[in-house]
Amino acid sequence: MRQTVTLTLSGAAGQIGYALLFRVASGEMFGPHTPVRVRMLEHPRAVAAAAGVAMELQDAASPLLLDVDVTADPRIGFDGANIAILVGARPRTAGMERSDLLEANAGIFGPQGAAINDVAAQDIRVLVIGNPANTNAMIAAAHAPDVPGERFTALTRLDHNRALAQLALRTGLSVGDISRVTVWGNHSRTQYPDLRHALIADMPALEVVDRAWAEGPFIDTVAARGGAIIAARGGSSVASTVSAIIDHGHLRRRGVPEGDWTSAARISDGSYGVPEGLVCSFPVISVDGRWEIVQGLEIDAFSRARIDASVAELIDERDAVRALGLLR
Ligand code: NAI
Repeated sequence: MRQTVTLTLSGAAGQIGYALLFRVASGEMFGPHTPVRVRMLEHPRAVAAAAGVAMELQDAASPLLLDVDVTADPRIGFDGANIAILVGARPRTAGMERSDLLEANAGIFGPQGAAINDVAAQDIRVLVIGNPANTNAMIAAAHAPDVPGERFTALTRLDHNRALAQLALRTGLSVGDISRVTVWGNHSRTQYPDLRHALIADMPALEVVDRAWAEGPFIDTVAARGGAIIAARGGSSVASTVSAIIDHGHLRRRGVPEGDWTSAARISDGSYGVPEGLVCSFPVISVDGRWEIVQGLEIDAFSRARIDASVAELIDERDAVRALGLLR
């Protein structure tokens, strides 16, 4: 029997959803031999738009697409889901306080986590894209007590790819020559793209690029890349986000190349001094489809301070959500 995948995509009528679904239909996401059922979960006000996207998806006439459903009800949307990609989120609007943003998103990700807990398939894996992605993933996981916490991740492969791209541009080499880059912390301006353990053409990265660049402009450029793209393009990073979502899935299913690792935000088990339960970006490898944190990396004073600063932001977000009574 051929294996099939049920994918639930929230925010399916949005920009990322619109770009992602056609790469699912073409087989780029799950491979050319894996038929897919697509469940599009949308806010009630965008269900009609999602139905339009579903029509276009049908018109892609992909033999891999078994069926496409649209719903605004998480309990229908996540029914039998093997993979949930949570893109739909409440964006920050002018004058909105951070606590209002966290509260609005907890109102989305809490019920979605509870529905995943109750109706998703046994092997469900959840990838959160909608911001604040780390804390949204933590909220969803907290509402899904029967699903192992490590199944919930937030995307930081985009930041990882941005770091690879900056290194390739700086050195004139290919991204294929670069390994062991890490993005630590929150998917936000406080993130820490770390070259301390990275290799460039088998040489320690800090012997190839200068330390002052690695500790300053490199970090700032990677962390601010999303804003720079909005300023230049007049729109947010959509295609590169979709590429990163596909990379994240491939690396989890097929494994990370020997000797390398990737970055993903997953629930902390206390590794590297990150408080347990926070969803933090770590260096990870995939073992039997589970993200495991790479252990034993030396953390020097510079890295410690950068990691701690980003973790402090994650703690603040967690405490704000907890104070609102939105964490179980
Ligand atoms: P968009 O605004 O085009 O689409 C968002 C969609 O989510 C809309 O169709 C909206 O109706 C839907 N939505 C809102 N509430 C919902 C709910 N309760 N249930 C289901 N759907 C709901 O935004 P875009 O460009 O697609 O980005 C989506 C999110 O991804 C944003 O939060 C953005 O900040 C985040 N993002 C994260 C990245 C990462 O690396 N983690 C990179 C790029 C974007």
